[in-house]
Amino acid sequence: MASNIDARVEELISKMSLEEKVGQMNQLSGPNEAYKDLIRQGKLGSLLNVVGADKCNEFQRVAVQESRLGIPLLFGFDVIHGYRTIFPIPLGLASSWDPDLVRKAAGIAAAEARADGINWTFAPMVDIARDPRWGRIAEGAGEDPYLGSVIAKAAVEGFQGEDISDPRRVAACAKHYVGYGAAEGGRDYNTTDMSERTLREIYLPPFKAAVEAGVATIMSAFNDLCGIPASANPLTIREILKGEWGFRGFVVSDWNAIGELINHGLARERRDAAREAVLAGVDMDMCSNCYIDELCDLVRSGAVREEVVDEAVRRILRVKFMLGLFENPYVDPDRARSIILCEEHRENARDIARRSMVLLKNQDGLLPLRKDLRAIAVIGPFADNRADLLGCWSGLGRAEDVVTVLEGIREKISPSTDLLFSDGSNIEEAVTVARKAEVVVLAVGEPAYRSGEGGSVSTIDLPEGQEDLIKAVYGAGRPVVAVLFNGRPLSITWMAERIPAILEAWHPGIQGGNAVADILFGDYNPSGKLPVSFPRTVGQIPIYYNHKNTGRPPEETNRFTSKYIDIPSTPLFPFGYGLSYTRFEYRDLRINPARTPINGKVTVSVEVANVGEREGEEVVQLYIRDVTASITRPVKELKDFKKIHLMPGERKTVEFEIPAERLSFYGRDMKPVVEPGLFKLWVGPNSMEGLEGDFEIV
Ligand code: GLC
Repeated sequence: MASNIDARVEELISKMSLEEKVGQMNQLSGPNEAYKDLIRQGKLGSLLNVVGADKCNEFQRVAVQESRLGIPLLFGFDVIHGYRTIFPIPLGLASSWDPDLVRKAAGIAAAEARADGINWTFAPMVDIARDPRWGRIAEGAGEDPYLGSVIAKAAVEGFQGEDISDPRRVAACAKHYVGYGAAEGGRDYNTTDMSERTLREIYLPPFKAAVEAGVATIMSAFNDLCGIPASANPLTIREILKGEWGFRGFVVSDWNAIGELINHGLARERRDAAREAVLAGVDMDMCSNCYIDELCDLVRSGAVREEVVDEAVRRILRVKFMLGLFENPYVDPDRARSIILCEEHRENARDIARRSMVLLKNQDGLLPLRKDLRAIAVIGPFADNRADLLGCWSGLGRAEDVVTVLEGIREKISPSTDLLFSDGSNIEEAVTVARKAEVVVLAVGEPAYRSGEGGSVSTIDLPEGQEDLIKAVYGAGRPVVAVLFNGRPLSITWMAERIPAILEAWHPGIQGGNAVADILFGDYNPSGKLPVSFPRTVGQIPIYYNHKNTGRPPEETNRFTSKYIDIPSTPLFPFGYGLSYTRFEYRDLRINPARTPINGKVTVSVEVANVGEREGEEVVQLYIRDVTASITRPVKELKDFKKIHLMPGERKTVEFEIPAERLSFYGRDMKPVVEPGLFKLWVGPNSMEGLEGDFEIV
């Protein structure tokens, strides 16, 4: 198949004029009638933000039937966590630590999108993020490169399946290549500067996982990366992505990122911008028009060889052939109507949402609640809220599709239970309502606009006024369960010290209300784990689990160690943390052999027992530490995890195989190396707890 496609690509390129080649490298946004002439002239090869089977077919007919070569269009759209059936935001999906779940969500999103004319999604976003001030932390899989890589692979497999010509699949796009999440100060689009080692060990791995999973496209990022903007960076695009990794898909720039090379100060004018980007390996220009305006002249003047253009067009056409667009350029509107938002998808959205939530606190087993309480009060700005539960980048999601927390709870409780409500805008009224209840559910957090693109904040406290509401309702003296709706870790220190039960729901998508109710009333035992650390306060940022030890690791009683003197040195909630309604015990850690050759492997086993009364799932996490090496190593690195289900009283032996090469790092010569020496190892429920052992590489 691949060689046949390559032959067809070459045959088509041989017929194309320079203008038609550059046209394939040009992408514009929206169903603009004026674009039809550009399409007829072969000057436009891809559209984004054109949705709907009829509308896509309309523009596709112009390309296929009215242009000289009839090359079909790519239709791109941000299908980030659902198309019309909206799932939890990706940070929530990552909290499931369940690649099968991520794959399923992506598969449903792809089926709905493709049916509606979209054949290319700008997802998965795989940027590692260590700064929750950055609004786009919501769109990724958190702070860890290993978890991020597992999620990236699963998302690509879900979107693309085995064959992207399948009418239920789309081409995926791993973004934003690369280092975008390292924006200084967590300020979106800000400068990023890091060592090549950090780039290769922290920010590149999820992209490499996506490439190894066969991702069809990559999106180059906005950010200045160590002085060379990511959308004009030959090291990351030509040398690493296309060279070292052998990536054969194509690279699309982010929106106007090529034009912004002038703002960066890399290009004096658009001609320079076009030259810098195409020579660096950016194959398609999203919406800057630099390629369509400048590239033909650059080739004719000799500044850019036509082979460079040919290589870009080759990559783009290969994806179009792989999508089967030359054989099947159009979509069936009836198919879209039959599957979009169908009952099966809604039910899946409910299960995916509850598996994405994280139980942060449950003092004295307040949860799960009884369904026959005398009265329950649901209070707060997210109690009867639809739109914000969709979260950022919610595709074609509609507020009307969302089940609210109030509705979800109403469905659950007995007819005899009084259901009381206040949106919390009037604190006195909220307190009065709370006093009438046996238990209060407080639905708080941040609106969807406070995260996602351009959603960076200077503080990660709850938005204005919510803490007053929480304190007042807490003061009413009834047991309170707080449910958080947010797109980032929040500084909830006051709540964490006083509110007896806290559930992290993220922005959970259209079935959020039912998923929350399933958990609050015990119809689902929560199993999520945090993919990102929760700082105690914004001043603690950056705080992440896989940090270096420093020469003076923090000692609470020693002033002269690396810490703040006004707060503890640990996060409020650590990476990998999440509770259950049952309890799991870890026993009998075994590491074999105790001494392993550099080309060997280590087999680790541990027994996990469910010592509670309820069935439940546990994410068993394995961390290592390379204690001494020629480059200082993190105090912990996640190297594997397994999500297991245990009935009450059941115990399982969980086994991991760690080949020594998974212990490698980039040495002083910037080549991957495994060095002999002592390694510590932990297996446990999160990045701060677990059974500890060690082994040696000899
Ligand atoms: C935006 C985002 C990118 C998105 C693209 C198209 O600026 O940075 O994630 O895919 O433009 O909407």
